[in-house]
Amino acid sequence: MTGVILAIVLCLSVAIRAEFPDDPKPCKYADGDCIVKLVNTMFQERSSAADPSLNLKQLEPLKIDSMTVSQGEEKSPVAINLKFTNNLLYGIKDITFTKVKGFDKDPTAVHEIKAVTKVFSMIGPYTIKGKVLILPISGTGQSNITLVNMKAIIRFSGKAVEKNGETYLDVDDLKLSIKPESAHFYFGNLFNGDKALGDNMNVFLNENSEAIYQETGAAIEKAFGDKFMEIVKDVFSKHPYAKLFAQE
Ligand SMILES: *[C@@H]1O[C@H](CO)[C@@H](O)[C@H](O)[C@H]1NC(C)=O
Repeated sequence: MTGVILAIVLCLSVAIRAEFPDDPKPCKYADGDCIVKLVNTMFQERSSAADPSLNLKQLEPLKIDSMTVSQGEEKSPVAINLKFTNNLLYGIKDITFTKVKGFDKDPTAVHEIKAVTKVFSMIGPYTIKGKVLILPISGTGQSNITLVNMKAIIRFSGKAVEKNGETYLDVDDLKLSIKPESAHFYFGNLFNGDKALGDNMNVFLNENSEAIYQETGAAIEKAFGDKFMEIVKDVFSKHPYAKLFAQE
C-alpha cells in the first residue's frame, strides 16, 4: 500500500518546493542523491509540524475515500471483492526514500522512486465478499490491513505537453510494486457479526497471510497505483516541469 504514497509524497514535496523555490534549495536535474535527501528532510520537518503553511497534515493519515481490491481470477485460490470507504492510511510520515532515478531534463524519461517504511496501516470501513482458500468470506465492518517493513518502487512516465509556453509532464503510466515482510489482516463483524466464525476467519487469514498476500498483492498494488497516478498526474499538471529543478 505503499507507498503508493511514496509518489504522492515526493510529488507533494516537489510541488511545495515549487512554490517556495529557495527553501529548501531545489536539486539539479537527475541528481538522485540530492532529491532523496531533500525529500527525506522535508518529511522529517513536516512530521514535526514545523511549518503549518505546508498544509501537509492530510498526508498523515491519508484519506482514502474509496478503494476496491478486486481479485477474481478463476484459478486463484483467493477470489474476493473487497471495498474500502472512508479509510485512513497511517505510516506515510515514516517513509524513507532510498533511491531516485530519472527526474532528468527530459520529462518523458522513466522516473523511479524507491522507499521503505516500517508500518503501514489502512483502517476503516470495509465490505468483503468472496472466497479465501476454499472458505467463503463475507462481512461489513471496520478493518485494519497492516503491512510491515515494506519496500516500495514506483515507476511513472508520461508525455511532454506545452501550455502557455511552458512544458508540463502529463503522467499517463504509473506502476507500483510493494513487498512487505509481513501482512496482518483484521476484519471486524464478519459473517453478520457471528463472533466465532469471524474470529476463526481472522486467525485463518493471519496464519495464511503470506499466501493471501501472494494472491492479492497485484490487486492491492493496482488499487493503490491508480490512486497515486491521479495524485501524481495532478501535481505535474499544475507545475511546469523545469520549475521543479534548479536551473544551471
Ligand atoms: C492495526 O493492526 C496492527 C497489526 O496487527 C496493530 O499493531 C495496530 O495497533 C492496529 N491499529 C488499530 C488502529 O487497530
